[in-house]
Amino acid sequence: MEVNKISIKNMKSFGNDSQTINFDSGGNLILMSGRNGSGKSTIIDSFDYVLFNKVKGRKSKKVKLTSLPNRINKALEIDIEFKAKDGTLVEIKRGTSPSILTLKENGIENLRAGKDKINTLIENYVGIDHETFKGFISMSINDFKNFISLTNEEKKLLLDKLFNLEVIGVLNTILNGLIKDNRDKLVLMDKEIDILSDNINNINISIDKVKKSKEDDLEQQLVLIKESIESHKEPFNKVKERLTQIKDRKAEISEKIDSERTLLIESRTEISQIDKQLKLFENDKCPTCQADLNSGFHKGIKESFIEKKEKFTEVMNKVKERGLELSERLKKLNTLSEKGDSKYQELYSNLKSLKRDYDKLSEKKKDSSNQDLDEFVNTVKNLGSKLKEVETNKSDEEDRKIYHKNIKSILSEDGIKKTIIENIIEPINYHVSESIRIMHLPFEVELDNNFNATVTTMGEEVDTETLSTGETKALNIAIMIGYLKLIRTKKQINVLFLDEVFSSIDIERINDVLLLLRDLAETSDINIFLVHHSILDQEHFDKILKIEKEVFTMITEVK
Ligand SMILES: Nc1ncnc2c1ncn2[C@@H]1O[C@H](COP(=O)(O)OP(=O)(O)OP(=O)(O)O)[C@@H](O)[C@H]1O
Ligand SMILES: [Mg+2]
Repeated sequence: MEVNKISIKNMKSFGNDSQTINFDSGGNLILMSGRNGSGKSTIIDSFDYVLFNKVKGRKSKKVKLTSLPNRINKALEIDIEFKAKDGTLVEIKRGTSPSILTLKENGIENLRAGKDKINTLIENYVGIDHETFKGFISMSINDFKNFISLTNEEKKLLLDKLFNLEVIGVLNTILNGLIKDNRDKLVLMDKEIDILSDNINNINISIDKVKKSKEDDLEQQLVLIKESIESHKEPFNKVKERLTQIKDRKAEISEKIDSERTLLIESRTEISQIDKQLKLFENDKCPTCQADLNSGFHKGIKESFIEKKEKFTEVMNKVKERGLELSERLKKLNTLSEKGDSKYQELYSNLKSLKRDYDKLSEKKKDSSNQDLDEFVNTVKNLGSKLKEVETNKSDEEDRKIYHKNIKSILSEDGIKKTIIENIIEPINYHVSESIRIMHLPFEVELDNNFNATVTTMGEEVDTETLSTGETKALNIAIMIGYLKLIRTKKQINVLFLDEVFSSIDIERINDVLLLLRDLAETSDINIFLVHHSILDQEHFDKILKIEKEVFTMITEVK
């Protein structure tokens, strides 16, 4: 922030006649001189008011904003114009009784943002908060810091706000969020992995059980079929044997029938021969020679023929009888054979179908694929790939954990912060000892990494409580200048207010301090406003503002 000008109207002792202070570019050491109650501190307060809408009273107490407008005129109004770090030209008008707040950015009034938002925007343009401003930019006798031993709160302010290390705090907060996130994710992933593994195991156990029971089933079925095949074998063989016997029997009987048939034919032939012979005896005369055949001789022959015929007839009848009997037996055997055949066929087809079933089951047993279990196998497969995915994610998350751990150690007190502080402390110590030398103080001061100061004289440590008020003040100013020189490189704010901070320092040393401040103003391009109640050597100052109050405060530039 680079302040160009400020105009003050009706703030405390100020009146309607707006008093303006212009800030030159480059560094200046400016003295504000005036009697008690002339309005010097009010000028400094007007910065607090316009920039932060807050004013601290004596003993750092907050002042009610309603007590700030001039008691006669009211209508408090402060206008400030400054260039922000990002180059924006910022103009703020703030007033109380009536309340006014406008923000112009590069000449354009911001009408979109509400009051709170405008205050935040202003603080962003200023670049620091009120507390830091009061601690390190606008210091007064009432709350001048004991830089020899800063409180922890002040050290934090110094580091975080002025050396920009608050970003480490922000990063740490973000990192802690990420670490928590990572931890939560890992817990969830572990749970998910457990559940997935359990599910996979359980389904696999079930699949194995089903497979085993199916195999057992098959085995049992095979044993049953085998038993059934075995039980069929004996009756089958018996039927087969019986059929062979029947066949043999049939062949035997057929043979007999054949021989009987031959015998019958032979007998018939014989009978027909005999009949022919007997025909000759029909007329008792020889058909050829007509000789009488009824002689005893011929009768004898005829008788023997008749006898022969009877014999043959008897044989033939017997043969017929036997033939019938044999036919009957053959018929019975055929019936038996038919029955045997159908039994044979039945047993044969039973065995065949049992064999077929057996082969089928054996084949099924050999085939390890279990189509009905496919759905479960697929589920296991899917769960497996899900598990793999979660495990990969977990390993990524574990990598992240290690990464976070590394970042955490970088962002820790012993990490980057320590390195930064080490780099800060060294030049501060250098500036402090330079200031001490210029002020001719018979002490040395060394700040450690915790910003604690060790004061020594001729190599011997000094209990800082034993230092005189003026010595303490001077050492504090030396340390303050050390800090300010470095802070300027981080925060470009071109103003520094020192309100009566030189009280209890003797005039010779004040001259040394003024030399130091002049150097600080020039090397760091700061407008240092010095309020001091007693006469100071005008030579030291680039500008002298005379603050007078008749009725209202008037500012006159006298140098
Ligand atoms: N609301 C107000 N209306 C009118 N005058 C006020 C109001 N508030 C404070 N004052 C007076 O304004 C004057 C300016 O006070 P300020 O603190 O600026 O003086 P100073 O110049 O810093 O004096 P010192 O040297 O004593 O510190 C005081 O006299 C104070 O009483
Ligand atoms: Mg004052």
